Amino acid sequence: MDIDEKISELEKRNLEAEQGGGPRRIEEQHAKGKMTARERIHYLLDEGSFQEIDKFVVHRCHDFGMQKKKIPGDGVVTGYGTVGGRRIFIFSQDFTVFGGSLSGPFGEKVCKIMDLAIKVGAPIIGLNDSGGARIQEGIVSLGSYGEIFRRNVKASGVVPQISVIMGPCAGGAVYSPALTDFIIMVKDTSNMFITGPQVIKAVTSEDVTPEELGGAMTHNAKSGVAQFAEDSDKAALDRVRELLGYLPQNFRELPPFVASTDDRGRTDKSLNRVIPENPKLPYDMKDIIHSVLDNNHFLEIQEHFARNLIIGFGRLNGHAVGIVANQPRFLAGCLDINASMKASRFVRMCDCFNIPLVTFVDVPGFLPGVNQEHGGIIKHGSKVIFAYCEATVPKITVITRKAYGGAYDVMSSKHHGSDINYAYPTAEIAVMGPEGAVNIIFRKDIDSSQDPEATREKLVKEYRNNFASPFKAAELGYIDQVIYPEHTRPHLIHALMMLKDKREALTERKHGNIPL
Ligand code: HXC
Repeated sequence: MDIDEKISELEKRNLEAEQGGGPRRIEEQHAKGKMTARERIHYLLDEGSFQEIDKFVVHRCHDFGMQKKKIPGDGVVTGYGTVGGRRIFIFSQDFTVFGGSLSGPFGEKVCKIMDLAIKVGAPIIGLNDSGGARIQEGIVSLGSYGEIFRRNVKASGVVPQISVIMGPCAGGAVYSPALTDFIIMVKDTSNMFITGPQVIKAVTSEDVTPEELGGAMTHNAKSGVAQFAEDSDKAALDRVRELLGYLPQNFRELPPFVASTDDRGRTDKSLNRVIPENPKLPYDMKDIIHSVLDNNHFLEIQEHFARNLIIGFGRLNGHAVGIVANQPRFLAGCLDINASMKASRFVRMCDCFNIPLVTFVDVPGFLPGVNQEHGGIIKHGSKVIFAYCEATVPKITVITRKAYGGAYDVMSSKHHGSDINYAYPTAEIAVMGPEGAVNIIFRKDIDSSQDPEATREKLVKEYRNNFASPFKAAELGYIDQVIYPEHTRPHLIHALMMLKDKREALTERKHGNIPL
């Protein structure tokens, strides 16, 4: 072969690999409203930046006539490139090749780029669209999954890991995305389940469609497995790009700084009136969040799950921050099992990746109920304590209204290591709400009075004035400053800038034993 022949041989092989499962299967993929594995990579990555690795890898299976069916690349496209000029590693499962099912060599390709990403210190993006374990390969495929899971765990807290579910993701295969930091699902075309509808029907006689069982909205609103539900492949990939903008390359770095066009001293008079006079009335905590962040931009995470608690990213004076906030519009902002899981995981994720935490508090307590107690609210609530106490990133808290009982401590109180704690003049920091407190400590006085209702009302008022205010806590130094609500943004920025160089080391140990 002369040199020209060798080059055209390479060209032929490249074209063959780039065809994946061939034009018919690509057409079928498009007909389902899905992009191909390569189209997804090219859409997400900066133009011309993708460098493919292991393009000619093939499977080594000789059973079931597989030796006659080899496709270069074998069902997954892997490599590295940049997004917004920053290095990332990516694998994109190719459903057109054996249904994107995972063979031994397929797993080796994924592991190779995960190992590189950990060594280099750059995010790993996984695009999932696969029928799961390559049935013809049997246990080899299981071994490969195990190798991937181990690397997901090794990479956890080292580099950000983002999973996008863009087709089927079934059986044990779901555990790779589940071990990552974020799961983004595409509505209507993706699903995730451990056992599918047919197995469920056989075992429990329950009838359920794949969408109901494990579609995007199921995992966003019910199970809390996923953080985002997007309308299309492109929207899901846009979300990856946006998320990466708030994340550092690895745990040693800070998240990207984006110079702010918003005035750091900007005040907002409407915040003085945002808390209703009647403490029983709800308001939208997102009004406060949007008001204080740069350009009023807030990227909400897990917006459909545990809506009594809000989490997400924003920027203050150009610096990324993670927001945790009670939402009085749902369940009066109570902490329940789901909200506790949502908050604690987010706090830990922010702490891994050096994202300061800003917590807005309006919480009447933990949600009472037999289901909550039997479901383990004690265990789940303690996760929030663990997460906040262990977080060493800058922690800033604003109590807007209620901070009652144990929930006061839990929501990033001074006692759990928060650095700066603000309260609005409307804050009510107390062991419990005025009505509950008065009913307990003055029950006898109320019952024996001539007009119990009037007595109760008077005592509630007295209690509210004396105890349900920010000033008792401020006298004790539990609150650093009682602030004018309109000045929230400048205060947060002052505190954040002061804490910029915060360094805090935890006690030496192997690892804590978080109540999982
Ligand atoms: C080998 C597979 C495959 C698999 C699909 N294909 N899944 N090949 N192993 N797991 C092949 C099909 O044979 C078919 O090839 C092609 O991919 C496209 O599949 P279709 O069935 O035609 O596509 P569709 O109708 O869209 O259905 C997709 C699907 C279905 C829902 C994913 O294929 C399916 O149910 N597959 C099996 C899923 C499964 O049970 N996987 C194992 C899970 S257990 P041809 O050549 O005929 O077109 C598991 C354990 C992991 O993954 C454990 C980790 C610890």
